[in-house]
Amino acid sequence: MQDLRINLDRVKKNLQTVGLVANSGQRGYTRLAYSQEEKKALHWLKRELSQLPVTVCEDNIGNVFGRWGDVNRPAIAFGSHLDTVPEGGLFDGALGVIIGLECLHTLIENQYKPEVPLELICFVGEEANPLGGTFGSRAVTGLLEYSKELELKLKKVGYTWEDVVASKRTSNDYRCFLELHIEQGGVLETNDKKIGVVTSIAGIRRLFVQVHGRASHSGTTPMSLRKDALVDASRLVQKVNELAVQAKGDIVATVGELSVFPNLANVVPGEAELMIEIRGSKLDEMMTLERSIRDWIDKNMDAEISVAVQKDPSQISDTIQSCIEEICRSSHIPSQSMFSGANHDANAMNTITDVGMIFVPSKDGISHHPDEFTSWEDIEVGGNVMLKTLQSLTRKYT
Ligand code: HGY
Ligand code: MN
Ligand code: MN
Repeated sequence: MQDLRINLDRVKKNLQTVGLVANSGQRGYTRLAYSQEEKKALHWLKRELSQLPVTVCEDNIGNVFGRWGDVNRPAIAFGSHLDTVPEGGLFDGALGVIIGLECLHTLIENQYKPEVPLELICFVGEEANPLGGTFGSRAVTGLLEYSKELELKLKKVGYTWEDVVASKRTSNDYRCFLELHIEQGGVLETNDKKIGVVTSIAGIRRLFVQVHGRASHSGTTPMSLRKDALVDASRLVQKVNELAVQAKGDIVATVGELSVFPNLANVVPGEAELMIEIRGSKLDEMMTLERSIRDWIDKNMDAEISVAVQKDPSQISDTIQSCIEEICRSSHIPSQSMFSGANHDANAMNTITDVGMIFVPSKDGISHHPDEFTSWEDIEVGGNVMLKTLQSLTRKYT
Protein backbone atom coordinates (compact mmCIF):
# COMPACT_ATOMS: atom_id res chain seq x y z
CA MET A 1 0.00 0.00 0.00
CA GLN A 2 1.46 3.44 -0.98
CA ASP A 3 2.59 5.12 2.25
CA LEU A 4 0.81 8.44 1.72
CA ARG A 5 0.22 11.31 4.15
CA ILE A 6 -2.39 14.05 4.25
CA ASN A 7 -1.31 17.67 3.77
CA LEU A 8 -2.06 19.20 7.19
CA ASP A 9 -1.56 22.78 5.99
CA ARG A 10 -4.26 22.27 3.35
CA VAL A 11 -6.57 20.80 6.03
CA LYS A 12 -5.97 23.81 8.29
CA LYS A 13 -6.64 26.25 5.45
CA ASN A 14 -9.82 24.48 4.32
CA LEU A 15 -11.25 24.04 7.81
CA GLN A 16 -10.62 27.68 8.70
CA THR A 17 -12.05 28.80 5.34
CA VAL A 18 -15.29 26.89 5.94
CA GLY A 19 -15.44 28.45 9.40
CA LEU A 20 -15.04 31.93 7.94
CA VAL A 21 -17.00 31.57 4.70
CA ALA A 22 -20.22 30.63 6.45
CA ASN A 23 -20.91 31.71 9.98
CA SER A 24 -23.79 33.75 11.36
CA GLY A 25 -23.03 33.38 15.06
CA GLN A 26 -21.45 35.88 17.45
CA ARG A 27 -19.51 33.24 19.33
CA GLY A 28 -18.28 29.99 17.79
CA TYR A 29 -19.77 28.83 14.48
CA THR A 30 -23.38 28.93 13.32
CA ARG A 31 -24.45 27.24 10.07
CA LEU A 32 -27.95 26.03 10.81
CA ALA A 33 -29.63 23.35 8.73
CA TYR A 34 -30.95 24.71 5.40
CA SER A 35 -29.63 28.20 6.25
CA GLN A 36 -27.81 30.53 3.85
CA GLU A 37 -24.64 29.76 5.82
CA GLU A 38 -24.98 26.02 5.24
CA LYS A 39 -25.70 26.66 1.55
CA LYS A 40 -22.59 28.88 1.29
CA ALA A 41 -20.45 26.17 2.87
CA LEU A 42 -21.86 23.55 0.47
CA HIS A 43 -21.20 25.90 -2.45
CA TRP A 44 -17.60 26.32 -1.28
CA LEU A 45 -17.23 22.50 -1.11
CA LYS A 46 -18.62 22.04 -4.64
CA ARG A 47 -16.14 24.61 -5.90
CA GLU A 48 -13.23 22.83 -4.20
CA LEU A 49 -14.36 19.47 -5.57
CA SER A 50 -14.74 20.87 -9.10
CA GLN A 51 -10.98 21.58 -9.11
CA LEU A 52 -10.34 17.84 -8.81
CA PRO A 53 -11.01 15.21 -11.55
CA VAL A 54 -14.23 14.15 -9.81
CA THR A 55 -17.91 14.20 -10.84
CA VAL A 56 -19.63 16.74 -8.61
CA CYS A 57 -23.39 16.66 -8.09
CA GLU A 58 -26.03 17.90 -5.67
CA ASP A 59 -29.30 16.10 -5.08
CA ASN A 60 -32.72 17.75 -4.79
CA ILE A 61 -32.38 18.45 -1.07
CA GLY A 62 -28.84 19.82 -1.14
CA ASN A 63 -26.64 16.82 -0.32
CA VAL A 64 -23.31 17.22 -2.20
CA PHE A 65 -21.47 14.27 -3.81
CA GLY A 66 -17.92 14.20 -5.25
CA ARG A 67 -17.41 10.91 -7.13
CA TRP A 68 -13.88 9.86 -8.22
CA GLY A 69 -14.27 7.03 -10.71
CA ASP A 70 -17.07 5.28 -12.56
CA VAL A 71 -20.48 6.78 -11.67
CA ASN A 72 -22.17 3.53 -12.63
CA ARG A 73 -20.38 1.28 -10.13
CA PRO A 74 -20.92 1.06 -6.35
CA ALA A 75 -18.47 3.31 -4.51
CA ILE A 76 -16.67 3.48 -1.22
CA ALA A 77 -18.29 6.55 0.31
CA PHE A 78 -17.05 8.78 3.11
CA GLY A 79 -17.97 12.18 4.54
CA SER A 80 -20.08 13.93 7.17
CA HIS A 81 -21.97 17.26 7.50
CA LEU A 82 -21.29 21.03 7.42
CA ASP A 83 -24.25 22.33 9.39
CA THR A 84 -23.75 23.19 13.07
CA VAL A 85 -25.75 23.83 16.21
CA PRO A 86 -26.16 27.53 17.11
CA GLU A 87 -22.77 28.91 18.26
CA GLY A 88 -21.21 25.47 17.89
CA GLY A 89 -17.62 24.48 17.29
CA LEU A 90 -15.32 24.46 14.27
CA PHE A 91 -14.90 20.67 14.13
CA ASP A 92 -18.26 18.86 14.56
CA GLY A 93 -19.11 17.53 11.08
CA ALA A 94 -16.83 19.91 9.18
CA LEU A 95 -13.71 17.96 10.18
CA GLY A 96 -15.10 14.79 8.60
CA VAL A 97 -15.91 16.61 5.36
CA ILE A 98 -12.56 18.45 5.16
CA ILE A 99 -10.55 15.32 5.97
CA GLY A 100 -12.59 13.44 3.35
CA LEU A 101 -11.79 16.16 0.81
CA GLU A 102 -8.11 15.99 1.82
CA CYS A 103 -8.02 12.19 1.38
CA LEU A 104 -9.44 12.55 -2.13
CA HIS A 105 -6.93 15.31 -2.92
CA THR A 106 -3.96 13.29 -1.59
CA LEU A 107 -4.92 10.09 -3.41
CA ILE A 108 -5.45 11.93 -6.69
CA GLU A 109 -2.23 13.97 -6.57
CA ASN A 110 -0.28 10.77 -5.80
CA GLN A 111 -1.77 8.99 -8.84
CA TYR A 112 -3.35 6.37 -6.54
CA LYS A 113 -5.31 3.85 -8.62
CA PRO A 114 -8.35 2.72 -6.58
CA GLU A 115 -9.92 -0.57 -7.69
CA VAL A 116 -13.36 0.93 -6.91
CA PRO A 117 -14.84 4.42 -7.19
CA LEU A 118 -14.54 6.72 -4.17
CA GLU A 119 -17.22 9.25 -3.24
CA LEU A 120 -17.16 12.14 -0.77
CA ILE A 121 -20.66 12.93 0.56
CA CYS A 122 -21.67 16.02 2.52
CA PHE A 123 -25.14 15.53 4.04
CA VAL A 124 -27.45 18.45 4.83
CA GLY A 125 -29.35 18.97 8.07
CA GLU A 126 -27.46 16.59 10.35
CA GLU A 127 -28.07 18.60 13.53
CA ALA A 128 -31.42 18.66 15.35
CA ASN A 129 -33.87 20.68 13.23
CA PRO A 130 -37.63 20.87 12.40
CA LEU A 131 -37.24 18.04 9.82
CA GLY A 132 -35.44 15.86 12.37
CA GLY A 133 -31.64 15.54 12.52
CA THR A 134 -29.57 13.50 10.03
CA PHE A 135 -32.22 14.61 7.53
CA GLY A 136 -29.95 14.46 4.44
CA SER A 137 -28.65 10.98 5.17
CA ARG A 138 -32.10 9.67 6.14
CA ALA A 139 -33.42 10.94 2.79
CA VAL A 140 -30.56 9.26 0.88
CA THR A 141 -31.20 5.98 2.69
CA GLY A 142 -34.98 6.09 2.32
CA LEU A 143 -35.69 6.31 6.07
CA LEU A 144 -38.15 9.22 5.81
CA GLU A 145 -41.86 8.47 5.71
CA TYR A 146 -44.38 10.72 4.02
CA SER A 147 -46.75 12.72 6.18
CA LYS A 148 -48.70 15.91 5.55
CA GLU A 149 -46.87 17.43 8.51
CA LEU A 150 -43.45 16.58 6.99
CA GLU A 151 -44.53 17.97 3.61
CA LEU A 152 -45.48 21.30 5.24
CA LYS A 153 -42.14 21.42 7.09
CA LEU A 154 -40.28 20.60 3.82
CA LYS A 155 -42.11 23.43 2.07
CA LYS A 156 -40.91 25.90 4.72
CA VAL A 157 -37.29 25.14 3.76
CA GLY A 158 -37.99 25.07 0.02
CA TYR A 159 -38.27 21.31 -0.62
CA THR A 160 -41.03 18.93 -1.68
CA TRP A 161 -41.68 15.30 -0.84
CA GLU A 162 -40.77 14.51 -4.46
CA ASP A 163 -37.31 16.04 -3.79
CA VAL A 164 -36.86 13.65 -0.88
CA VAL A 165 -37.92 10.65 -2.96
CA ALA A 166 -35.57 11.69 -5.79
CA SER A 167 -32.63 11.74 -3.34
CA LYS A 168 -32.98 8.08 -2.38
CA ARG A 169 -30.06 5.77 -3.11
CA THR A 170 -29.69 2.07 -2.39
CA SER A 171 -27.19 -0.55 -1.26
CA ASN A 172 -26.36 -1.03 -4.96
CA ASP A 173 -24.78 2.44 -4.99
CA TYR A 174 -22.29 1.85 -2.19
CA ARG A 175 -19.88 -0.80 -0.91
CA CYS A 176 -19.39 0.91 2.46
CA PHE A 177 -19.36 4.30 4.17
CA LEU A 178 -16.64 5.74 6.44
CA GLU A 179 -16.99 8.81 8.67
CA LEU A 180 -14.29 10.59 10.66
CA HIS A 181 -15.74 12.67 13.50
CA ILE A 182 -14.68 14.34 16.73
CA GLU A 183 -15.59 12.19 19.73
CA GLN A 184 -17.60 14.98 21.42
CA GLY A 185 -16.88 13.40 24.79
CA GLY A 186 -13.84 12.91 27.04
CA VAL A 187 -13.14 9.16 26.83
CA LEU A 188 -10.17 9.26 24.41
CA GLU A 189 -8.51 12.15 26.24
CA THR A 190 -9.02 10.47 29.65
CA ASN A 191 -7.58 7.19 28.36
CA ASP A 192 -4.74 8.89 26.46
CA LYS A 193 -5.85 7.39 23.13
CA LYS A 194 -5.56 9.09 19.74
CA ILE A 195 -8.20 7.10 17.81
CA GLY A 196 -11.65 5.81 18.74
CA VAL A 197 -12.83 2.81 16.72
CA VAL A 198 -16.61 3.09 16.95
CA THR A 199 -18.46 -0.18 17.70
CA SER A 200 -22.05 1.11 17.72
CA ILE A 201 -23.98 4.35 17.36
CA ALA A 202 -26.70 5.43 19.78
CA GLY A 203 -30.32 5.09 18.85
CA ILE A 204 -32.61 8.04 19.58
CA ARG A 205 -36.25 8.32 20.58
CA ARG A 206 -37.72 11.79 21.04
CA LEU A 207 -41.14 12.10 22.77
CA PHE A 208 -43.08 15.33 22.30
CA VAL A 209 -45.19 15.91 25.43
CA GLN A 210 -48.04 18.45 25.70
CA VAL A 211 -48.89 19.06 29.36
CA HIS A 212 -52.39 20.49 29.86
CA GLY A 213 -53.26 22.85 32.74
CA ARG A 214 -55.59 25.84 32.97
CA ALA A 215 -54.48 29.38 32.35
CA SER A 216 -55.74 31.77 35.05
CA HIS A 217 -54.96 35.10 36.70
CA SER A 218 -51.76 34.86 38.76
CA GLY A 219 -53.11 37.30 41.36
CA THR A 220 -56.64 36.06 41.92
CA THR A 221 -56.27 32.26 41.62
CA PRO A 222 -55.73 30.61 45.03
CA MET A 223 -52.88 28.06 45.05
CA SER A 224 -55.41 25.32 45.90
CA LEU A 225 -57.45 25.99 42.72
CA ARG A 226 -54.64 26.11 40.19
CA LYS A 227 -53.87 23.71 37.32
CA ASP A 228 -50.35 24.92 36.60
CA ALA A 229 -48.99 23.17 33.47
CA LEU A 230 -45.44 24.37 34.10
CA VAL A 231 -45.35 22.96 37.63
CA ASP A 232 -46.44 19.59 36.21
CA ALA A 233 -43.88 19.84 33.39
CA SER A 234 -41.13 20.68 35.90
CA ARG A 235 -42.00 17.58 37.97
CA LEU A 236 -41.83 15.56 34.74
CA VAL A 237 -38.36 16.95 33.89
CA GLN A 238 -37.18 15.94 37.37
CA LYS A 239 -38.71 12.45 37.02
CA VAL A 240 -37.16 11.84 33.58
CA ASN A 241 -33.75 12.63 35.03
CA GLU A 242 -34.33 10.40 38.07
CA LEU A 243 -35.49 7.42 35.96
CA ALA A 244 -32.60 7.84 33.50
CA VAL A 245 -30.04 7.87 36.35
CA GLN A 246 -31.54 4.59 37.60
CA ALA A 247 -31.70 3.03 34.08
CA LYS A 248 -29.42 0.16 33.03
CA GLY A 249 -26.52 0.26 30.56
CA ASP A 250 -25.56 3.36 28.58
CA ILE A 251 -29.05 4.89 28.61
CA VAL A 252 -29.28 8.70 28.82
CA ALA A 253 -32.30 11.01 28.72
CA THR A 254 -32.55 14.76 28.31
CA VAL A 255 -35.26 17.41 28.21
CA GLY A 256 -33.62 20.01 25.98
CA GLU A 257 -36.73 21.79 24.75
CA LEU A 258 -39.48 23.38 26.89
CA SER A 259 -42.17 25.91 25.92
CA VAL A 260 -44.73 27.58 28.20
CA PHE A 261 -48.04 29.11 27.13
CA PRO A 262 -49.01 31.91 27.33
CA ASN A 263 -45.58 32.54 28.94
CA LEU A 264 -46.58 35.73 30.78
CA ALA A 265 -45.62 36.68 34.35
CA ASN A 266 -49.24 37.35 35.38
CA VAL A 267 -50.82 34.18 33.93
CA VAL A 268 -50.72 30.71 35.54
CA PRO A 269 -49.32 28.52 32.70
CA GLY A 270 -52.14 26.78 30.88
CA GLU A 271 -49.97 24.63 28.62
CA ALA A 272 -46.39 23.38 28.56
CA GLU A 273 -44.68 21.50 25.72
CA LEU A 274 -41.44 19.59 26.11
CA MET A 275 -39.23 17.18 24.15
CA ILE A 276 -37.86 14.16 25.99
CA GLU A 277 -34.89 12.54 24.25
CA ILE A 278 -33.81 8.98 25.14
CA ARG A 279 -30.59 7.49 23.75
CA GLY A 280 -28.79 4.18 24.13
CA SER A 281 -27.07 1.35 22.31
CA LYS A 282 -29.93 -1.13 22.92
CA LEU A 283 -33.47 -0.38 21.74
CA ASP A 284 -35.08 -2.67 24.35
CA GLU A 285 -33.39 -0.74 27.19
CA MET A 286 -34.54 2.54 25.64
CA MET A 287 -38.12 1.24 25.42
CA THR A 288 -38.01 0.12 29.08
CA LEU A 289 -37.20 3.66 30.17
CA GLU A 290 -39.83 5.08 27.84
CA ARG A 291 -42.52 2.82 29.32
CA SER A 292 -41.60 3.96 32.85
CA ILE A 293 -41.86 7.60 31.79
CA ARG A 294 -45.18 7.05 30.02
CA ASP A 295 -46.63 5.21 33.04
CA TRP A 296 -45.58 8.02 35.37
CA ILE A 297 -47.11 10.66 33.11
CA ASP A 298 -50.39 8.71 32.87
CA LYS A 299 -50.62 8.53 36.67
CA ASN A 300 -49.54 12.09 37.45
CA MET A 301 -50.83 14.60 34.90
CA ASP A 302 -53.09 15.47 32.01
CA ALA A 303 -50.78 15.17 29.00
CA GLU A 304 -50.52 13.89 25.43
CA ILE A 305 -47.41 12.10 24.15
CA SER A 306 -46.31 11.60 20.51
CA VAL A 307 -43.11 10.06 19.09
CA ALA A 308 -41.28 12.85 17.25
CA VAL A 309 -38.08 10.99 16.25
CA GLN A 310 -37.20 7.30 16.17
CA LYS A 311 -33.70 6.15 15.12
CA ASP A 312 -32.56 2.59 15.83
CA PRO A 313 -29.08 2.09 17.30
CA SER A 314 -26.63 0.69 14.77
CA GLN A 315 -23.84 -1.87 15.03
CA ILE A 316 -20.68 -0.98 13.09
CA SER A 317 -19.21 -3.42 10.55
CA ASP A 318 -16.63 -5.77 12.10
CA THR A 319 -14.68 -5.70 8.81
CA ILE A 320 -14.20 -1.96 8.95
CA GLN A 321 -13.53 -1.92 12.69
CA SER A 322 -10.77 -4.55 12.24
CA CYS A 323 -9.36 -2.59 9.31
CA ILE A 324 -9.05 0.59 11.41
CA GLU A 325 -7.66 -1.33 14.39
CA GLU A 326 -5.01 -3.02 12.21
CA ILE A 327 -3.91 0.34 10.79
CA CYS A 328 -3.60 1.81 14.31
CA ARG A 329 -1.70 -1.26 15.50
CA SER A 330 0.79 -1.27 12.62
CA SER A 331 1.28 2.51 12.94
CA HIS A 332 1.69 2.27 16.76
CA ILE A 333 -1.23 4.67 17.31
CA PRO A 334 -2.98 4.22 20.69
CA SER A 335 -6.62 3.44 19.94
CA GLN A 336 -9.65 1.92 21.63
CA SER A 337 -13.09 0.61 20.70
CA MET A 338 -15.96 2.77 21.86
CA PHE A 339 -19.72 3.44 21.69
CA SER A 340 -20.94 6.67 20.12
CA GLY A 341 -23.53 8.44 22.29
CA ALA A 342 -23.77 11.03 19.54
CA ASN A 343 -25.78 10.19 16.45
CA HIS A 344 -24.17 10.56 13.03
CA ASP A 345 -24.97 10.28 9.32
CA ALA A 346 -23.20 6.91 9.48
CA ASN A 347 -26.18 5.69 11.52
CA ALA A 348 -28.52 6.22 8.57
CA MET A 349 -25.99 4.91 6.02
CA ASN A 350 -25.74 1.75 8.13
CA THR A 351 -29.22 0.79 6.93
CA ILE A 352 -28.01 0.39 3.30
CA THR A 353 -24.31 -0.49 3.58
CA ASP A 354 -21.43 -1.38 5.91
CA VAL A 355 -20.24 1.65 7.88
CA GLY A 356 -17.22 2.54 9.97
CA MET A 357 -16.40 5.54 12.17
CA ILE A 358 -13.06 6.98 13.27
CA PHE A 359 -13.12 9.28 16.32
CA VAL A 360 -10.46 11.83 17.17
CA PRO A 361 -10.19 13.31 20.71
CA SER A 362 -12.19 16.35 21.88
CA LYS A 363 -10.33 18.56 24.38
CA ASP A 364 -12.09 18.38 27.78
CA GLY A 365 -14.88 16.46 26.01
CA ILE A 366 -16.45 19.76 24.93
CA SER A 367 -18.69 19.89 21.84
CA HIS A 368 -21.73 21.80 20.56
CA HIS A 369 -19.96 24.82 22.08
CA PRO A 370 -17.53 27.52 20.82
CA ASP A 371 -14.75 25.94 22.94
CA GLU A 372 -14.94 22.66 20.99
CA PHE A 373 -11.30 21.82 20.13
CA THR A 374 -9.17 19.08 18.61
CA SER A 375 -5.41 19.65 18.21
CA TRP A 376 -3.80 19.74 14.77
CA GLU A 377 -1.55 16.87 15.88
CA ASP A 378 -4.61 14.71 16.64
CA ILE A 379 -6.24 15.81 13.39
CA GLU A 380 -3.14 14.79 11.45
CA VAL A 381 -3.11 11.35 13.12
CA GLY A 382 -6.83 10.88 12.45
CA GLY A 383 -6.57 12.10 8.86
CA ASN A 384 -3.75 9.67 8.07
CA VAL A 385 -5.67 6.77 9.67
CA MET A 386 -8.66 7.75 7.50
CA LEU A 387 -6.43 7.86 4.40
CA LYS A 388 -4.92 4.44 5.08
CA THR A 389 -8.33 2.98 5.92
CA LEU A 390 -9.73 4.18 2.58
CA GLN A 391 -6.78 2.65 0.74
CA SER A 392 -7.30 -0.61 2.61
CA LEU A 393 -11.06 -0.64 1.99
CA THR A 394 -10.55 -0.17 -1.77
CA ARG A 395 -8.92 -3.60 -1.68
CA LYS A 396 -11.32 -5.25 0.77
CA TYR A 397 -14.48 -4.07 -0.98
CA THR A 398 -13.55 -4.69 -4.62
O1 HGY B 1 -27.53 14.81 18.09
C1 HGY B 1 -26.45 14.29 17.79
O2 HGY B 1 -26.05 13.31 18.37
C2 HGY B 1 -25.59 14.88 16.69
O3 HGY B 1 -24.70 15.78 17.27
N1 HGY B 1 -26.39 15.53 15.70
MN1 MN C 1 -21.78 15.79 14.00
MN1 MN D 1 -23.43 17.70 16.38
